[in-house]
Amino acid sequence: MKKIGKVYCAILAGGTGTRLNSPVPKQFLEVGGVPILIRSIRAMFADERIEELWIGANGDWYDLAINQIKQFIGKDERLHICRGGEDREGTLLNILDSIKNNNVINEDDIVLIHDAVRPFATKRIINDVINELHYCDVCNTVIPVNDTIIRSDDKKSVSGMPDRSVLFAGQSPQGFRIKTLIKAFESLDSETRKKLTETTKVCFVQDIPIHIVTGEFFNFKITTPYDMTLAEGVLKYKDSAGIE
Ligand code: CTP
Repeated sequence: MKKIGKVYCAILAGGTGTRLNSPVPKQFLEVGGVPILIRSIRAMFADERIEELWIGANGDWYDLAINQIKQFIGKDERLHICRGGEDREGTLLNILDSIKNNNVINEDDIVLIHDAVRPFATKRIINDVINELHYCDVCNTVIPVNDTIIRSDDKKSVSGMPDRSVLFAGQSPQGFRIKTLIKAFESLDSETRKKLTETTKVCFVQDIPIHIVTGEFFNFKITTPYDMTLAEGVLKYKDSAGIE
């Protein structure tokens, strides 16, 4: 069993949410009167092992992130903010640099990476990801695929129907031993890195074993305007079911 040292968290909040098409990026919109970013931060803090949480935010929205934190959370010494990057992984790399510049990283230290636009991560999921890192260096949160997956190479006709029972959809949080993740990024040239839009893939292409834990269907990524209505419903469901 591997030891777990300091637990860091990286919240990726540097996107502009083009598919949601709102003048304010989706992570700053409110669901049930609380901004999505704030809900995601609170969700991660449900696990008391998280000692240091970094938020990566971009451009004009950096100050908005600070203001929302002041208004909804107040002073919390575990919370830090840095600039985001051009894409999701760029924001993550900026956060990793900030963590490195402010700490001495040990072999046992881990980081949980979470999308700012997934406000419904549960205490159970976070606990499972951290605990799984006793047995691996990288862990992803996934859910089974409910629909039949159809492959179409020409986007006009069916070219394959993979066996659904072995297919899963990736979510976050994703957990990493920090040193493993940094080394995996350092081994890639910037062109290859840009093509890898999924952080665990950075490790997968280098044959680093990745464990999985089960997420929740409602731990979805707010992406389209429809998802904002869905989020209000999930909030009611979680509250009525008493899910933390
Ligand atoms: N993200 C980030 N920095 C970027 C781009 C994305 O931190 N430069 C974050 C988003 O803020 C979000 C997460 O990565 O929390 C998942 O990305 P996605 O849902 O694709 O968000 P956006 O890029 O904002 O949305 P869209 O693709 O519709 O523009």
